[in-house]
Amino acid sequence: MALLSLQRNLPVPSVQELASEPLDAVPSRYLRDDVDDPVSNPCNPFLQIPTVDMSKLLDAESQAEELHKLYSVCRDWGAFQVVNHGVADELVKSMKEKSRDFFYFPLQEKKRYAQKEGSVEGYGQTFVNSEEQKLDWSDMLFINALPYEDRKYNFWPDRPQGFREALDRYSGEVKRLALSLLGFMAKGLGLEAHEFSKDFEDGLYHVRMNYYPHCPQPQQVVGMAAHADITGITVLLEFDETQGLQIRKDGYWVPVKTLSGAFLVIVGNIGTVMSNGIYQSAQHRVVVNSLKERLTIVTFCYPHKEAIIEPVHNLINPENPALFKTLGHAEYFDLFFSRNSYSGEPWFIDTLKIDA
Ligand code: OGA
Ligand code: NI
Repeated sequence: MALLSLQRNLPVPSVQELASEPLDAVPSRYLRDDVDDPVSNPCNPFLQIPTVDMSKLLDAESQAEELHKLYSVCRDWGAFQVVNHGVADELVKSMKEKSRDFFYFPLQEKKRYAQKEGSVEGYGQTFVNSEEQKLDWSDMLFINALPYEDRKYNFWPDRPQGFREALDRYSGEVKRLALSLLGFMAKGLGLEAHEFSKDFEDGLYHVRMNYYPHCPQPQQVVGMAAHADITGITVLLEFDETQGLQIRKDGYWVPVKTLSGAFLVIVGNIGTVMSNGIYQSAQHRVVVNSLKERLTIVTFCYPHKEAIIEPVHNLINPENPALFKTLGHAEYFDLFFSRNSYSGEPWFIDTLKIDA
């Protein structure tokens, strides 16, 4: 069905509203039969997502060892948590408060920022392109925060007071962190920092605030289906102890418990392409909870619009030929948005391989 594409965005009900009524049964559009299936979706609750310490990366004495750690976790996991990242606690706290306040407003208030057909920016749900599609148990507010010229302030809530200022500062700080991490990820491969970070200096930083309500049938519902991000990297903030995110490692789902104050970093498909396949883009999904809601703030970091998406030249030689196609920025996004689903096979990264 070539006409269906991810860019169509059919309106569906607010899940938060659905969950606020006494619900005996979840509507069938949300029900899946393989969420807990031990064969297709085995879990390994004994593994723990590795931690990278930014202060050790910045300290000449500990840098080499921590760089090696960063390199191995990007290679073996494609995700890690980062501590001592330098983003002020007070800013993180305020960003959390403002976005929670926003989701707690009545639906009518949130709808002032509703997504428009054909675009995912604004308040609503992700990528709904057919009436048959299985739906995720979540609502979101999606905002293109950077570069400044892409801002559409009609999607930036003016209530609660201070929301815009917090998001403005937060996106700037997360960008600073992302540039630094991308530089170290390049160094971990023996490259110069700028070989990864330069295209992100004027990059795109899209912030998605996710609200996952409690769900009466958590075994048959997902907050977000299994996917890999199409970013360079993604910087994710969990609000509190409510778990839900799982990362796929060697075929197993590993529940993520981020340390208080840490960010979770996920390598996206562009990160995999730039590293010529050395760094993985971790598949991940969100499971839901029968008692508690869960909120997250996710920043998707992309290279600027003129960037070429391809393996870094200095990683390519006769023994290590390029494994991925060279694509223009628009071409890359067109390819992604021409897909029918953001989740499931064939995985997008595989379609970017030269022999695909
Ligand atoms: C995403 C995502 C996970 C979460 O928004 O792409 O994977 O825990 N979110 O909200
Ligand atoms: Ni994701």
